[in-house]
Formats: sequence, structure tokens, C-alpha cells
Amino acid sequence: MTAFDYRDGELAAEEVPLAEIAARFGTPCFVYSRAAIESAFRRFDSAFGIRDHLVCYAVKANANLAVLNILARLGSGFDVVSGGELLRVIAAGGDAAKVVFSGVGKSEAEMRQALERGIRCFNVESASELDRLDAVAGRVGMRAPVSLRVNPDVDAKTHPYISTGLRENKFGIAFDDALALYRHAASRSHISVRGIDLHIGSQIEGLAPHVESAQKALVLVDRLAADGIRLEHIDFGGGLGIRYRDEETVDPYEYAFAILRLVGNRPLQLIFEPGRFLVGNAGLLLTRVEYLKRGTERNFAIVDAAMNDLLRPALYDAWHGVCAVRARPTPSRLWQIVGPVCESADFLARDRDLALEEGDLLAILSAGAYAMSMSSNYNSRPRAAEVVVDGKSAHLVRHRETPEELFERESLLP
Ligand code: LLP
Repeated sequence: MTAFDYRDGELAAEEVPLAEIAARFGTPCFVYSRAAIESAFRRFDSAFGIRDHLVCYAVKANANLAVLNILARLGSGFDVVSGGELLRVIAAGGDAAKVVFSGVGKSEAEMRQALERGIRCFNVESASELDRLDAVAGRVGMRAPVSLRVNPDVDAKTHPYISTGLRENKFGIAFDDALALYRHAASRSHISVRGIDLHIGSQIEGLAPHVESAQKALVLVDRLAADGIRLEHIDFGGGLGIRYRDEETVDPYEYAFAILRLVGNRPLQLIFEPGRFLVGNAGLLLTRVEYLKRGTERNFAIVDAAMNDLLRPALYDAWHGVCAVRARPTPSRLWQIVGPVCESADFLARDRDLALEEGDLLAILSAGAYAMSMSSNYNSRPRAAEVVVDGKSAHLVRHRETPEELFERESLLP
């Protein structure tokens, strides 16, 4: 299924021309396809067939309530990393009993809130966190369901900023310390040991890092069982890469085949935390060319979206496809697609061969994941609108911020 395609020379989202969306909701604007999200979820989920499993969408990829609701309606669970994300999931109709809580810095208030909401599991990342959780659960008179996030020391071979499974990273419990910490956890009166958790990085292109870390985790699962600590689930985290340009990607069926073979008939529920795979290619950022500035060295197309809307190019040198919403026959040239923010790192794409005129609409592709969710108000720029297209209908699911909203929490000195 192609969510975004040309119809009569005009780029459309499902059945709605993007020019119509720009006219109705303005630019910059994120546009998501409901059908694309649903189809990615079904591809991932069905790959595990009838094996007991739970997909917990990583909310950080795109936390818009409408996106969460689309996934909740399909039965998705959620991986959250803050109290704020948990509240979003609940507000979007998600089921707290299908929520896992990851992250290295859970506060006491977040722990209490998650316990009271009845989440499925805490993915605990350190010995201190385990002790704090035990104490907090004791105070509310509950037992906290726990998985230990183990750091398998596997190279995910992805961008260093999004690699998480190496010994040098801040994430998880060192593999060699895990056994002792499990024994300690099993002895605590307000902790209930449920599983083991992994997440080695994001935008992983090959299968090998997933296999290597799963193998290591299963060795631990078996050692624990021999010790009388029987786990109910294994959470493999997220990380499946998507195609931004020409990357090799792992098909969910290949991934599932490898995981299912490794797990064999161990009586474990399988949990996954995909983020980017479910939403990354289901969204684009619609922007308008404000000015064309031709120079002797470089030509700049200054658009109305910027690094505050899509940080990935500035932060990771990430590549996003750029398409003209209405292709022009006029001769093309190489453009630097840049925003109005006062930073030289404010670029969305470099050296793109396009035929452009001022006022043209451009689509920055693969902007469904880690785009709006990483946006900011830098330069006092109101955040973009968000629209979900569903067949012939376009729904505004987040209104464009107003400049006044940006300073409504501030006050002058008396
Ligand atoms: N589970 C945990 C514990 C995570 O930390 C993450 C992502 C995921 C699941 C989902 O990973 P995914 O399936 O989306 O790869 N801002 C970066 C990506 C950071 C990912 C952080 N953790 C980017 O724009 O590429």
C-alpha cells in the first residue's frame, strides 16, 4: 500500500491531495496516513501468528493522541518512558494493562502513578531503581511487576546517538550483574519478577544484532529457570529500521522467523516495542517554499519548516526524501532545503535536484517517527499542525500553536 502517491501529477495522502491539506490547515503541517499505520501494525503483529505476543508501540516515536488511538483500536500495547506518555496513552483509549514502562530515570511520582494505573511491567534499568520501586510499591501496598533491562553488549551498528546496547551506553543492567540482581529482586517483598527486557538501538538495518542479543538473553532466561526464577515474558525492545533512502531493511516476517526459532517452545510471552517501523513511513512534513536564494556556491530553498519541526537532519545528519507536491517540467538545479531558524545546522535536506519556484509545496518524507515528537519552539516558532488522512477525509488532530500560547505560562516581574 502506498500511502503517499501522485494522482494526476499531484502528490496525495491516500485520497486527499496535499495541496488541499495545505490550503485547509496551512504549512508547515505533518500529515499521517491512517491506512499506512494500520498496515504497518498488521504486518508486524501478524508475523508472530498465533504465538502469545504483545506489540507495545514505543510512544516516543509519535505521541499524538489520534495516532495512539489508531493503534489502541488495533489492540496495541504501549511502551512509555515518562508519566506524561502514560497519561497520553490513557487519554487516547489505551489499556494500562498493556503498558510497559522503560527508561533509566523513573521518578517516584512516575512509579506511583504507573502502579496505581495498573501497568503491565516496569523495565528496570539499575539496582538503585529496583530498590526505589520496591520502596514505592511498599508505600502504596502493591507488588510492582518487573523486568530487568539487560544490556547485552551487542553492537547494533547504527548511529552512535541511537545505539543503546553497548557496555559503554547508559542503558540497562550489565549482563554479568543480571543474575545477582534477579536473585535480589526475587527476594524483595514488593517486587514481582516477570520478565527480561532488551533494546539495543534504533534504525537497525540487519538481523544479526537482534539475533545476537536474543541469544544472550535466552541464555540468561535458562540460567534463571535453573535457579527457580521462571520468567513469564521476554521483551525484545524495538529497533527495526525503515527505508529512508536505500537502506537494507529487515522484513518483520524474517525478524519473527528468527526470533521464534530462537525462543523455541520456552513458555514465554513475547513482547516487542517497535516505534519507527509502525509510523515512520506513515507520515510526511508538508512545507512551502518561501524564498529561493541562488548563490555562486550553493542554491538555498528557504521553506517554512525548520529544524525545530524536524531535528533529525541537524542532529544525526539524517537523510529524508523530498518531493515536489506538484512536479514542474522546468529545469531543475541542486538545492539546499533550509528553514528560517538562525543556525547553519538548520537544514532539512542537502543537494536535492528539484525544479522549484517560490510558493511551491514540498513533502519531506518519512516524517512520521521522531519528527513532531522531537520538535521544539526554538526561535519562538509555534509547533506545526498535525493531520491524519483516512481515505477521502483529512482530520486536524493537533491545531497549529499560536505565538501567544508559547508565552502564556510566562510572567513579568512585579
Ligand atoms: N524501546 C525503547 C526502550 C526505546 O528506547 C526505543 C527508542 C524504542 C523501543 C523504539 O525504537 P524504534 O523501534 O523506534 O527504533 N530520535 C532517534 C531515535 C531514538 C530512539 C530512542 N529509543 C531518531 O530520530 O532516529
